[in-house]
Amino acid sequence: MSNSHEPTNIDRREFVKRSAAGMIAGRLVVEPVRRDERIRGANNRVVVGVIGSGRQGLSDMKSAMRHPDVDVAAICDVYQPNLAKGVALAPSAQQYGDFRRVLERKDIDAVIVASPDHWHPLHAILACEAGKDVYVEKPISVAVAEGRKMVDAARKHGRIVQVGTQQRSGKHFQQAAELVRSGKIGKVTQVRCWNFGNESPDGIGTAPDGSPPPELDWDMWLGPAPQRPFNSHRFGVSDARWSTFRWFWDYAGGMMTDWGVHWLDIVQMATGADAPVAISASGGKFALQDDRETPDTLIATYQYPGFICTYENRLANAAPLNDKRGGIDFHGTDGTLFVDRGGFEVTPETRRSGDSILDRSEAIQVSNSNDNHVDHLHDFIECVKSRRTPVADIEIGHRSTTTALLGNVAYRTGRRITWDGATERILGDSDASRHLTREYRKPWTL
Ligand SMILES: NC(=O)c1ccc[n+]([C@@H]2O[C@H](COP(=O)([O-])OP(=O)(O)OC[C@H]3O[C@@H](n4cnc5c(N)ncnc54)[C@H](O)[C@@H]3O)[C@@H](O)[C@H]2O)c1
Repeated sequence: MSNSHEPTNIDRREFVKRSAAGMIAGRLVVEPVRRDERIRGANNRVVVGVIGSGRQGLSDMKSAMRHPDVDVAAICDVYQPNLAKGVALAPSAQQYGDFRRVLERKDIDAVIVASPDHWHPLHAILACEAGKDVYVEKPISVAVAEGRKMVDAARKHGRIVQVGTQQRSGKHFQQAAELVRSGKIGKVTQVRCWNFGNESPDGIGTAPDGSPPPELDWDMWLGPAPQRPFNSHRFGVSDARWSTFRWFWDYAGGMMTDWGVHWLDIVQMATGADAPVAISASGGKFALQDDRETPDTLIATYQYPGFICTYENRLANAAPLNDKRGGIDFHGTDGTLFVDRGGFEVTPETRRSGDSILDRSEAIQVSNSNDNHVDHLHDFIECVKSRRTPVADIEIGHRSTTTALLGNVAYRTGRRITWDGATERILGDSDASRHLTREYRKPWTL
């Protein structure tokens, strides 16, 4: 079944509902092809610029470059060693320290935005305004209101915007979601998502403020975030580990938005829910003696219509759940479906019938069967060419990011938040509502 001739004026809520439900069956086209759009034939090249060639940017680049029609023509990074790594992958690309010079180039069709989270909204919106299609990493923003502006910019300028929640392109994730949606495990009443590890006692350690290294444009790294002296942990880039900017509120949201968003994205894909109605969270930085600001222990609880969902993060004890340090359990009246990046498994509930104990559902085990990251980037490239809506369209990515961000709002305010997903407002709590936006450091504005 093809949905390719859906009307273009469906409302936002209906769009999300339909795109979740129609995820496997087909894609919606919500963007009319603009008059000035170059219509690419099957052999046309897609010219790509990369903004932020750090660890994930390089990975995104590699996956994109496996598409036969991709030319990476520009790499931009504010940190010279990472810029050099990008250019090593695409030697014919031009190098930039200022992303605005990339956006000025008329030959660039699309950009991959893999800068730290606090830059995503500006990078993505300015790219849309410059007529570029955008692949933007998750989480798409640091504050909810920024994400809505990203959706608006994509729509206003008729751009394809795919979010880097690549699990959506995982065949086994799609199959698991379809099983949940089709009622295979009965009515789902509880969902648990988790990431466990043990970094105690030192965590990322401590580092003093100092002067930025000469090969870094610290002011351009900070961008819209508050001015402050250079700190190597806030900058975070290191060959030894994922960058530690993730653990500072000015730039990111800790594990809740780093990993939590991946699981919550699948929860919303599988259940068709696009927003929780209430959120509460508890946690703290109890064990790790390091510079991070984000908690080392957190449980966020989401009330959705018809079920509850928790995201649990523990960084000071790695004891697994189901033998797994991360994943999602969907608990239904007829069975439990566990899914992680390795595959999924359905464990039936049992019922008594006379003397027999019968399974209520079918035991199923399915392994991961595709490289979802490569397929996700290729979905983006194909959508750039065809103007189809990508599998993780910006509206979907915004909804998933919002859910994760609200977990942090609940944690940071210590409040139970009532959320209106239709208007994207916190009800009856002006204090908590302040966390839905953030101030930009001049001259940057959104
Ligand atoms: N989809 C996934 O599974 C996944 C995995 C890892 C990271 N990510 C996301 O990717 C993003 C980058 O994370 P990372 O771990 O690669 O970080 P990183 O620090 O390794 O890379 C970010 C790069 O952006 C550069 N940068 C900062 N400001 C810039 C600017 N104004 N213009 C150009 N470049 C700029 C930095 O110098 C750095 O090289 C984050 O949003 C993260 O959440 C996604």
